Amino acid sequence: MCGIIGYIGDKSAQPILLNCLKRLEYRGYDSCGIAVAAGSLEVYKDAVRVEELARVAPQLNGTVGIGHTRWATHGEPSQVNAHPHLDCSGKIAVVHNGVINNFQRLKRQLTAEGHNFVSETDTEVISHLIEKYYAGNLEKAVEAALRDVDGSYAIIVLMAGEPKLVAARKDSPLIIGVSDRENFIASDVPAILDYTSRVIYLEEGDIGVVTKDNIKIRRHGTKVVGKEHKVLWSVEDAQKAGYEHFMLKEIHEQPRVIRDTLGGYISAAEPETKLVMMTEANLENMLVVACGTAYHAALVGKYIVGELVGIPVRTEIACEFTYCHQIPAGTAAIVITQSGETADTLKAMKRLKEAGCRVVAITNVVGSTASRIADQTIYTRAGPEISVAATKSFTAQLMVLYWLALSYSRVDIRRVDSLTMGLRQLPEKVQQVLDNEDKIRQYADYLSRYENVFFISRGINFPVALEGALKLKEISYIHAEGYAAGELKHGPFALLGASTPVIAIVARDNTYETMLTNIKEVKARGSPLMALAEEGDEAIEELADLVITVPRVDAIFSPVVNTVALQLLAYYTAKQRGCPIDFPRNLAKSVTVE
Ligand code: AGP
Ligand code: GLU
Repeated sequence: MCGIIGYIGDKSAQPILLNCLKRLEYRGYDSCGIAVAAGSLEVYKDAVRVEELARVAPQLNGTVGIGHTRWATHGEPSQVNAHPHLDCSGKIAVVHNGVINNFQRLKRQLTAEGHNFVSETDTEVISHLIEKYYAGNLEKAVEAALRDVDGSYAIIVLMAGEPKLVAARKDSPLIIGVSDRENFIASDVPAILDYTSRVIYLEEGDIGVVTKDNIKIRRHGTKVVGKEHKVLWSVEDAQKAGYEHFMLKEIHEQPRVIRDTLGGYISAAEPETKLVMMTEANLENMLVVACGTAYHAALVGKYIVGELVGIPVRTEIACEFTYCHQIPAGTAAIVITQSGETADTLKAMKRLKEAGCRVVAITNVVGSTASRIADQTIYTRAGPEISVAATKSFTAQLMVLYWLALSYSRVDIRRVDSLTMGLRQLPEKVQQVLDNEDKIRQYADYLSRYENVFFISRGINFPVALEGALKLKEISYIHAEGYAAGELKHGPFALLGASTPVIAIVARDNTYETMLTNIKEVKARGSPLMALAEEGDEAIEELADLVITVPRVDAIFSPVVNTVALQLLAYYTAKQRGCPIDFPRNLAKSVTVE
């Protein structure tokens, strides 16, 4: 996720672009850059924050320009990978937010046709494609270029000698800011609120051509008039895109995160890449190490890999890994870390390397320490996660684990095909959970009155019970415990009663019947019972006091929809209790001490 901005008017573009970029830094901040056109195109970019760029950048003259603040997905944060990206002639500049799935193939093709690439980004193919198709009309060249592209994008294109900006979007947001004798294009409203509150929201597939006093929009080849809206938000509200907290915004981003993370891996246009370090031999010794929510993703992974690849997976909490004596030779090790900077996880990585293991990192931050230590890195494409409570990063980590397990799966090809289809439908299913927000919010109001809660489940949803409890305790300060439903009778039963609600996560798999029995046991002890169950599950409706329904998915994907519902439940419970949701007490986003 990056922030992009374009300005065209009578004023000097540079200070306006830099000011707008500062407002977009919540979308990414590992590097930034601007391009301004007068007669020729001038670019200044670096792997620094916007404030630093504004301090050191030379004066670029011109009243039209584009800017970018980056959250790298392809290629580490560096000057050369920072946007804008140019074509060979240096006349066309592009800023991009999104992921181009088929960039490797396009890059190979364009290189063979004589184009010279300088960065490791996926974005750079766009400027070269536009150059390839340019025959006097920039808008047409952009349209032609985008026909070759598979992936998500919001782009703004600037060309030397052309007093206009061309913008296009697909699966990434883009708006036009309307003003008198000047116009703006931006990823999001906060960027432009210092200048105008008149906004046109571009729709999927729109191509906009913006000059200082004209806006032309084409939708699927037809000219349309963009509807102008008046924005009433403050700048601060707008940074959260109208959501009250970053956590809620990040929960709502999950359909996009699933698409972006999977896009690079299961794109039909691109062959699947396998893990370099995995061989059939060492696959038998798979170890996954992580902390907190990332550890819960690892635990779900254990069930996914177990079912699809048919091998046992060892999972370890990173801080305890120090005390494990056995690391079998040839172990295929995976670490999962959103930040890529968690001290416990990094220590475990170093220990694994010393033991001669090859280590794969699954991380969200390009160029993070974990990615530098790892032999291979697989990036989740979640975009910056600002709220301390991990939400979208967990979902993105699961996507990578599904993809990995499918890549090595030993199950019937028909099952693989049906699961691949199921993966593609997941953004929609998650959206259905998000659409049920009001109901979840009512249940959260009820839950917020209690001080102790148990989350129970079995099988692949047992880690979801752990994650549901972690989320609730972390942001609402309610004491919550995740338990394997079968373990409850081995001790915790003593705590059950009217003041201890139990939340049962029920999936339609081989755990179902036993879960029903466990729910009855809980009810018999007088605990209020809230269930998370598939829509249409009448047996649960009858048994539970409250039911949150989730859409029907293959049971292997149930951790995704269930976790999203529990994230919302935790969020609204914390909100009802008046907690500081994005920055809970005593916690930090990146835990860099042991
Ligand atoms: C959970 O919401 C998080 N606050 C925390 O448990 C986090 O998942 C853990 O600290 C690991 O962080 P990492 O993924 O950046 O390594
Ligand atoms: N894929 C582009 C890059 O890595 C843009 C990143 C994004 O928007 O997330 O530079």
